[in-house]
Parts: sequence; structure tokens; C-alpha cells
Amino acid sequence: MRKVSLDETRAGSIIARTIFSLNGMVLLSAGSELTLERIRYLVHHGITEVYINDDISKDITIPETVREEILIQTKSQLKKLMTVPSIKTVDGEKALELVDRLMEEILKNDQIIISLSDIRSIDDYTFSHSVNVAIFSMMTGITLEYKSDDLRNLGVGALLHDIGKMRISDDVLKKPSSLTIDEYNEVKKHTVFGYEILKNSRNINTTAQLVALYHHERIDGSGYPYNLKGNEIPLPAKIVAVSDVFDALTTDRVYRHKMHPSKVVDYMYSLSNKHFDKTVLNAFFMHIANYPVGTGVLLNTGEKGLVSKYNPVWPNRPVVRILMNEKGMMLRQYSEMDLSRNPEYYIVDIWDV
Ligand SMILES: [Fe+2]
Repeated sequence: MRKVSLDETRAGSIIARTIFSLNGMVLLSAGSELTLERIRYLVHHGITEVYINDDISKDITIPETVREEILIQTKSQLKKLMTVPSIKTVDGEKALELVDRLMEEILKNDQIIISLSDIRSIDDYTFSHSVNVAIFSMMTGITLEYKSDDLRNLGVGALLHDIGKMRISDDVLKKPSSLTIDEYNEVKKHTVFGYEILKNSRNINTTAQLVALYHHERIDGSGYPYNLKGNEIPLPAKIVAVSDVFDALTTDRVYRHKMHPSKVVDYMYSLSNKHFDKTVLNAFFMHIANYPVGTGVLLNTGEKGLVSKYNPVWPNRPVVRILMNEKGMMLRQYSEMDLSRNPEYYIVDIWDV
């Protein structure tokens, strides 16, 4: 199994994972063959990527941190919770229920490795993004030894961090070109709006309120709304800041293409202790597969292959299925190269298979 962009998928490929719409409707079941008509149907529903099984990937499995059905249910319930005309409060009890269900899933993993199934429609970005940010933040909280109640409050804050956007016009939020200064100032208000909504709500702890208010603050004071610095920013807001930026950069948006996780790791570490807290970055990236299973990679020898198994101890050294020799010729028989046992081989870049 591997994940491919829908524009690069050919008719005839077999779908490896069922594709759902946000309201839980099956768009295409696992095992179906892609036809041109089906590709057009998925594009029409805003789907940009699919998991397929093909000759080079058919016995590769990609583990799910949270089961697809739980992700779909949580996203659709979150959408109901947040999509209220001129929203003033939110049901804190319900938000805790969603967080508890995600937590139960996270704790079932024996090795905490993130591979969130991120097949999502561009239109449903806010809800998918919020659920992912909640999962990333809770995992980071676990590593930083958060206790149960703190972890739940962090989860609620992360799930609702952008709730203030519900008060901002879609014309600005979904604008495909760059924003004017006035529009950007309008977007920035989502932090204060979010804080107000959560403060007026029952069963929402102060931690969650402050996450909504401070998740765009940056360590060096370059963030908003108050240009707070270093330890003026509470830890839960620092955790959500890292999760928020990572998820945003690794996702396709209306105005830009996503970046590969291995590039985002480098980029975010370059902003360590400038934008992001280093301790939080270290805890966060312990859970992230730099080269997730199914990624195409180029080795230092010029050979190209597909990551077939992740190495949790040594994230930059997964097992790679070699598909192409250094002369660019496809191999008839693939060999598996465990980079953790072959120190002279290493990944130099990613490769679009
Ligand atoms: Fe935000």
C-alpha cells in the first residue's frame, strides 16, 4: 500500500483504503479499481490523495495511529459542535467526550508512531486539521509526562484552538491568493474570538481558553496577539503551536502544496527557540515518521526505492525497498535494504515514485 496524489494516479490502480466524505459517506471502497470517471468523482469531492495497492507496494502495510472510522466520527461531530451561526459558546462536555475517545485510541498504540490517515477533502480543512492537532498535541503531552486531567484539557484546547475562525468570513479564510494587511489583521482576531467563546462556555478549563488565545505566540516575541516571549507563553500553547504548524505545512492548502515531513522537521528545527520551544520540538518529533512507510526515497548511491518499514529507534534509517538502480533502470526483483544495518547507505532526498 502507498499513498499517491490523485493527479498522478492512473486508472486501473486498486484503492487500498476506503475513502470517506466528512459526513461519513463512503466515496469509494477499498478494493475498488480506479477508473477515469471515479477519479473525476473524487476530485469533485475535494479529495487530493488516495491509498493504492500496486505491484511495487502490495505487501506493504501502513499502520494507523487512530482508526479511520474514529477520525471520521470525531471530525463530523466536531463540525456539528463548531458550525453554529454567530457562535458564542461551545459544549465543553461534548468536546471532552471527543478528546477521551481520541485518547483511548492513542493509548492503544504500543509504539507511538504517527501515521494519521490524512485523506481529506480540502473543503473540510479546519475540522480535519483540528482533530490532527489534538492527536499530535496529546501525544506530545504524554511524552512530557502530562497527567490525565492536564492532558484532557490540552486535548480540548488543541481540538478547539481555531474555534474563533468560525466568526471570520470564509471569503478571507479560503482566499486562494495572498491576504491584504487588513485581511490578515482580521484573521489574527480568531485567537481573541476563540478565547471569548471558550471563556463564555461551560466545562471549558482555563488551559483550553489560553491555548486558543496564545497558539500563534512565538518564543522570540514575533507572534500574535500580544507578542509574548519565552515563558510568558504557557506550555500547552507552545505544544499546540508546534502541532498546528506541522500539520498545516504537511497538508495541501488552497494556496500552496504540502511539504514532506522530512523537510518540515528541518524547517521547524531551524526555528528552534526562535518560534518554537526546543523541548517541545524534541518531544513532538519523537512521534513523527520523517519518512513514513510508502514514501519514495533517493539513496546516496543513486538507487531509488520505497520505504517499506519504519524504524522507531532510528527514524532516518527505515527499511527501503529498492526499485530502481543507480542508472535509473527499474529492477525486475526488488530487494529490501535495512538502512539501520547498512551505515554506508543513507537517504539524500525524497522521490516521486
Ligand atoms: Fe490558529
